[in-house]
Amino acid sequence: MNDAAEAEYGTSPSIWTRLTTLTDYFAWPLRTSHYLELVNPLWTTHKLQARVVKVWDETQDARTLTLRPGMNWRGHRAGQHVRVGIPANGKHYTRTYTISSPPERSDDCFTITVKAIDKGTISHHIVRNIKVGDYLPIGLPQGDFYLPDAQPIEPLFITAGSGITPAFSMISSLIAQGRLPDTCHLHYAPHEFDVVLGKQLREMDQQQNRYHLHLLYTREGQDVHFSAEQLDALCPDWKQRDVYACGPPSLLEAIETCFEEAGCSRNLHIERFRAPFTEIPADAVGGKVRFAQSDVDTEGDSETPLLRVAEEAGMNPPHGCRMGICHTCNTTLVSGCVRDLRTGEVLNEAGSIVQTCICAAAGDCELDL
Ligand code: FES
Repeated sequence: MNDAAEAEYGTSPSIWTRLTTLTDYFAWPLRTSHYLELVNPLWTTHKLQARVVKVWDETQDARTLTLRPGMNWRGHRAGQHVRVGIPANGKHYTRTYTISSPPERSDDCFTITVKAIDKGTISHHIVRNIKVGDYLPIGLPQGDFYLPDAQPIEPLFITAGSGITPAFSMISSLIAQGRLPDTCHLHYAPHEFDVVLGKQLREMDQQQNRYHLHLLYTREGQDVHFSAEQLDALCPDWKQRDVYACGPPSLLEAIETCFEEAGCSRNLHIERFRAPFTEIPADAVGGKVRFAQSDVDTEGDSETPLLRVAEEAGMNPPHGCRMGICHTCNTTLVSGCVRDLRTGEVLNEAGSIVQTCICAAAGDCELDL
């Protein structure tokens, strides 16, 4: 099926669904969708997939993938994220990425922009190995970090690194709708050449009178880390603006403190890529970790989430958000102790539910995984 035909089917899912419901009687014990998958994976209705139609290197360690989703896709709101399945090294991983394109794209595709992170095997795999023509399982768009339907009050975006992606989608969306209010944007990157989506941001800055971009480089000789004084200098009316912030935990903590001290936290909207972890006691120890169902014995320290411990031991446990939200990684504590890295609470009662993505060993432990 060519693109035009795909688009045609994409606009009539209810007719398509009704038709496949009828033909399902003849496809038993499978479903029509299983046979359609053999012809075109984007026609399936029993699972949602996307085809990679373009890859684009943004920087030396960040890549944008343009994805054409299957028929069951529903449009996203600017700022939302999506779960993407990544086949790598014979296993199947799931990661969540913000959609970096605005919903107003005319070709029914969307983009994710992925930065290879330290020790991030999967992000490195995406940046180096995913190619045009690959099919990736995807979820539906999720997340409540998006602009209000009403005109936002003169937004201020504060972003760093790949935290640019939701802001880029939101600003592009406002521009596409022709309703960009006066917008100030502080973006932090280590160096000029490290700015993810930097070319597009600079173009917006040149072309949009109401968009004021401040690129701040944290490793080019000056001390340009976030502070209230810097905010006063670059965006004097910041206390009156709607503020959207996304970036590494240290930046988000500094922003939260700044807004709390100024008494205007209610204006602040934050998107995190990682659960905020609390300080672990200096004398905390890890221990021997046993994954009972998989018959795997390994070691885990007091800081590394058990999900990563399992993956490093060669397992492929269920997971989704990797930040304590979706509960896909839940398992049961058989014996021993684990620590919730967000709260510091130690769980030691057999039968307790353990979220492996945000719990680490707190001594020897055995999990029903
Ligand atoms: S993977 Fe989502 S809560 Fe653990």
